[in-house]
Amino acid sequence: MTLDFQFPKDFWWGSAASATQTEGSANGKKGKDIWDHWYKTEPNRFFDGVGPDLTSDFFNRYQEDIRNMKAIGHNSFRLSISWSRLIPGGVGEVNSEAVTFYNQVIDELLANDIEPFVNLFHFDMPLELQTIGGWENREVIDAYTNYAKIAFKLFGDRVKKWFTFNEPIVPVEGGYLYDFHYPNIINFRKAIQVAYHTMVAHAKVVKAYHEDQDGKIGIILNLTPSYPRSQHPADLKASHICDLLFNRSFLDPAVKGEYPEDLIKLLGEHDHLPIIESGDLELIKANKIDLLGINYYQPRRVKAKDNLPNPNSPFMPDWFFDNYEMPGRKMNPYRGWEIYEKGIYDIMINLKENYDNIESFISENGMGVQDEERFLKNGRIEDDYRIDFIKGHLKWLHKAIEENCNVRGYHLWTFMDNWSWMNAYKNRYGFYSVNIETQERTAKKSASWFAEVAKQHGFND
Ligand code: BG6
Repeated sequence: MTLDFQFPKDFWWGSAASATQTEGSANGKKGKDIWDHWYKTEPNRFFDGVGPDLTSDFFNRYQEDIRNMKAIGHNSFRLSISWSRLIPGGVGEVNSEAVTFYNQVIDELLANDIEPFVNLFHFDMPLELQTIGGWENREVIDAYTNYAKIAFKLFGDRVKKWFTFNEPIVPVEGGYLYDFHYPNIINFRKAIQVAYHTMVAHAKVVKAYHEDQDGKIGIILNLTPSYPRSQHPADLKASHICDLLFNRSFLDPAVKGEYPEDLIKLLGEHDHLPIIESGDLELIKANKIDLLGINYYQPRRVKAKDNLPNPNSPFMPDWFFDNYEMPGRKMNPYRGWEIYEKGIYDIMINLKENYDNIESFISENGMGVQDEERFLKNGRIEDDYRIDFIKGHLKWLHKAIEENCNVRGYHLWTFMDNWSWMNAYKNRYGFYSVNIETQERTAKKSASWFAEVAKQHGFND
């Protein structure tokens, strides 16, 4: 029997999570990262004043969690290594307790036939390295390369899919433009330098991986299609600039090995090109990724600016466009994000047509909902809205596959409700709900639905 939406038999079904959001930073031996520090200094910036100390206690409960993954048909799972846990301080001695922990997690996953996808950096700069400037400082590039090489040596025999960064533009936006990550700087010039150094670090690590290891290495990007309000040239220009700044600034160097000419021109015209050292561009050119992870939550809709920017306000990307609220758009009102399922297809077609159809997968997609206990029935959260959300996106992904897009899997954000940065536990995303008082995990309706989908590699409408 063929299903309405039948996916390939070797499709990757699973979910993603990150170290800071799940492990519990107070568990075990760990150096401080910027989240520990920011929470300590400004707890009021976090929803309900909840910080990263305990999160969902994966550090102690990984065995149960991996059993739960297996129970809902995961054949793959993405985690991240906490740099400040593996190497407290970011440089120097390796923490043997962390090595044991990550070894146990990896081995447990493999014993359950779940392939570990491992990411090296998920927003969690070791504090000591942020103190010397974070990605502004090239010393941090070397420290990161060293950390990555250590991780490859320790775990590369069993981990065959690696990622250098998760959403590298987010620390740039949060930390250097829009004040939602530490160090809360607002400075477009620094933002550009930080973004650029991140890509140099990425290329160095891709190089190191290919010299020494035999799996695949990639990057995870939050690709956000920039839809113009209209076909008016001014709206088209606004959306083109957004695409350059927010998507192609990482996508092009990672996949094509070079920055878009229009981006170089734009930054040059505003005297905002980063400081480039000799050899950097050759390094980026020579070290492209094998596999691209795509995080997709929402589209970006833009229009030409209604008013000229205030010349006394800081120069920002928003000098080039206004956000556009399309009438009638479908919203996830809790997170305040538009839901536009077709975006996933548009991304795939773009990759097929303009990026050599690079091997890719959906590394995050998901729906954060507040107060999910409202949907409790007989002890289970009936999250039909999440099932509809996933279905809607999978249908468009299926169409992309039918049109020969090279997409290999779908990972939900996230496996179990976890701590979400400044939003802490406000929006819940998991297949499993987590009672943050008792840490009890309970499967939601979407978990059972997904288990069937993974088993059959598809679903009926
Ligand atoms: C992605 C991140 O941006 O979206 C995750 O990789 C994050 O770390 C997820 O948690 C959902 O966003 P938020 O802000 O609701 O937690």
